[in-house]
Amino acid sequence: MEGRVTRISGAVVEAVGIDSPNMNDIVRVGNAGLLGEIVRLQDDKSIIQVYEDTTGLRVNEKVSNTHTQLSVKLAPGLLGSIFDGIQRPLEKIMEQSGDFIAKGVDIAPLDMEKRWEFTPIAKAGDTVHEGQIIGEVAETSLIIHKVMVPVGVHGKLDSIEKGEFTINQNIAIISGDEEKIEVKMLQEWPVRKFRPVKEKLSPDIPLITGQRVLDTFFPVAKGGTAAIPGPFGAGKTVTQHSLAEWSDADIIVYVGCGERGNEMTEMLTTLPKLKDARTGKPLMDRTILIANTSNMPVAAREASIYTGAALAEYYRDMGYNVALMADSTSRWAEAMRELSGRLEEMPGEEGYPAYLSSKIAEFYERAGRVRTLNDSVGSLTLIGAVSPAGGDVSEPVSQSTIRVTRVFWALDASLANARHFPSINWLNSYSLYEDDLTSWYTENVSKEWPALKKELMVVLTREAEINEIVQLVGYDALPEADKLILDIAKIVREDFLQQNAFDEVDAFSSIKKQYYMLSAIKMLYSVEKQAVDNQVPMSTFSGIKSKELLAKMKFVPDDKLETFNSEFKTSIEEVKNSVVVNV
Ligand SMILES: Nc1ncnc2c1ncn2[C@@H]1O[C@H](COP(=O)(O)OP(=O)(O)OP(=O)(O)O)[C@@H](O)[C@H]1O
Ligand SMILES: [Mg+2]
Repeated sequence: MEGRVTRISGAVVEAVGIDSPNMNDIVRVGNAGLLGEIVRLQDDKSIIQVYEDTTGLRVNEKVSNTHTQLSVKLAPGLLGSIFDGIQRPLEKIMEQSGDFIAKGVDIAPLDMEKRWEFTPIAKAGDTVHEGQIIGEVAETSLIIHKVMVPVGVHGKLDSIEKGEFTINQNIAIISGDEEKIEVKMLQEWPVRKFRPVKEKLSPDIPLITGQRVLDTFFPVAKGGTAAIPGPFGAGKTVTQHSLAEWSDADIIVYVGCGERGNEMTEMLTTLPKLKDARTGKPLMDRTILIANTSNMPVAAREASIYTGAALAEYYRDMGYNVALMADSTSRWAEAMRELSGRLEEMPGEEGYPAYLSSKIAEFYERAGRVRTLNDSVGSLTLIGAVSPAGGDVSEPVSQSTIRVTRVFWALDASLANARHFPSINWLNSYSLYEDDLTSWYTENVSKEWPALKKELMVVLTREAEINEIVQLVGYDALPEADKLILDIAKIVREDFLQQNAFDEVDAFSSIKKQYYMLSAIKMLYSVEKQAVDNQVPMSTFSGIKSKELLAKMKFVPDDKLETFNSEFKTSIEEVKNSVVVNV
C-alpha cells in the first residue's frame, strides 16, 4: 500500500495511507523518492521528517515505507571518508550532482567494489557469540579493522574464508538456533540506538591532549564528556582541531555542524591535510568526517550527531579509544528547534522543544570506557562545542550541556582578544574527573603532580583576588608576598597556559614536558618565596636568567628537555647563591 502526501511544511511532511507505519520507519517521499523518517503517528496520519530538500514536492505525491530504520553502514572503508549527516559520501554526491545535492540519490556510503584482504581469527567449528571478533582487515596504514559477529547473532561457525572480498560478499556462515546466517563484512546499525556493551568501566585514564591547560588543570578521561562553550571566534574550532590532531585517541570522528559554509570548507580542506603526529601518516587514516552546512537540509543536521555516535561506537566495540568532536552542538539543537516548530510541538524555553535537555543528555550518555561484547576495552569520549549567542551560557543549550558533561572548558572572549590562546578561562573551567585520574598521574608522571598543579592553581586564584586590590591601592602599595604571587601567576599564564596551536613544537606538550615545566616554575616560586621571607624585595628578580629560560621552555623539544632542565637548575642555583644566601 502506498501513502499520499497531504501537507508539506519545510522539512516536515504529513502523509496518509502508508503501509503499516511505525515510529522511526524510513520512507521514500514523493516522485523523487526523498529520504524521510516517521517521527510521529497521529490518528491516520504519519508525520515525516525529510532528510532532503522538499522544494518542488507536491501534495498527493506518493510515499512508500521501506520498513527499515535510519541506519549506518558499518564495514572497512569508513576511515578516511567524508559523509553528510545521513552517511552519504559527500565527494561522490558532489561528483554526481555538483555542489547541490540531487534529490533522492542513493549512493552507497562505502565502496562496494573494493576488495579487502580478510584474515580469519576464528575457525570453522567454533561457537561464536554476538560482538565476537572473527577476523581482521588492514583498513588503513594505522588501523586494523576487527570484523565482529553482528549483534543478535550467535551459533556455530560452519565456515569462514580467508582471502580478498568485497564488503558485501559472504565471509562466514553461522548456524544459529533456527537458521544459517551469512556473515559479511558489511553490517548495519540503527543510528539512534546505543550499541550494547558488557559493562561500563570507571573513567580513570586521561585522554592526553598535549594541551597544557587541559591535561594539567582540566583533564578529560578516556570515555569522558566535555563541553567547550564559547562566544564567536573564541577558539572552539581551533581547540577541537588540536584535539583531533594531538589527543591520544586511536580514532577520531569529527562532526561539523557549521553555521557558515566557509567554516565547513575550512574543515574539509584543513583536516584532510593534517598528519598524524605520532606516525607521520595522514590523520585521515584514523578519522571520519561528517559535514553539515547550513544549506543542507535541517533534518540531516539533526541526524548527523547520531550518525557520528553510531560510527564511533562501532570502532569502540573493536577495542579502540575513540573521540568524537561535535562542532557545534548549538547548530544541532537549532535543527531540533526548527523541526519541532514545524511539527507544531509545544515550545519550551527560547523556542527549543521541551525534550531538548533529554536529547542532549542521551547523546552524552553514549560516552564511556567499556568492556565490549568481545571482552576488549574501548572508550568513546564526547567533546561538544557550544556556541551561545554573545557567549552567555545561561541559555538552554549551554545549560543542558553543562548539566550532563563532566568537564567544562570555558572559552573566554576577553582572553581571545588579549591573544591569550587557548583562551580557556582557568577560573571558570573545571573537570570532575580530577579525582578519578589522580592515581594515573601519580603512577605515570610523578607523585608530586597533584600537589604541584594544585599549588599553581592556588597562585592563579590568588592573582585574581590581588588584582582587585591592585585596582584600589596600586601595585606599589602591595606587600611583597602579594607581588610574589603576581610574579609567579604571570609566568604560569604566559609561559605555561598560553600555547600556540600553530607552532611546530608548542602545538603539543607531552605530559613529561608539562611536568618539567610545572616543576621549573615551582623551583623559582620556592626560591622567590624564601627570599621574600628573608625581606629581599621582589624587584631583585626582574630580568633574571631563570625567567628568560622559563619563557623559552615551551619551545624546547622533548629530546632536549633534560639538557635544558639542568641549565635551568644551574640558573636557579645562581639566584639562590646571589640573592637568598647573601641576605
Ligand atoms: N590555540 C590557539 N593558538 C593560536 N591561535 C588561536 C588558538 N585558538 C584560537 N586562535 C585564533 O582565534 C581564531 C578564532 O578561533 P576559532 O575559529 O577556533 O573560533 P570559534 O570559537 O570556533 O569561532 P566561531 O564561533 O566563529 O565558530 C583562530 O582563527 C585563531 O587565529
Ligand atoms: Mg568555530
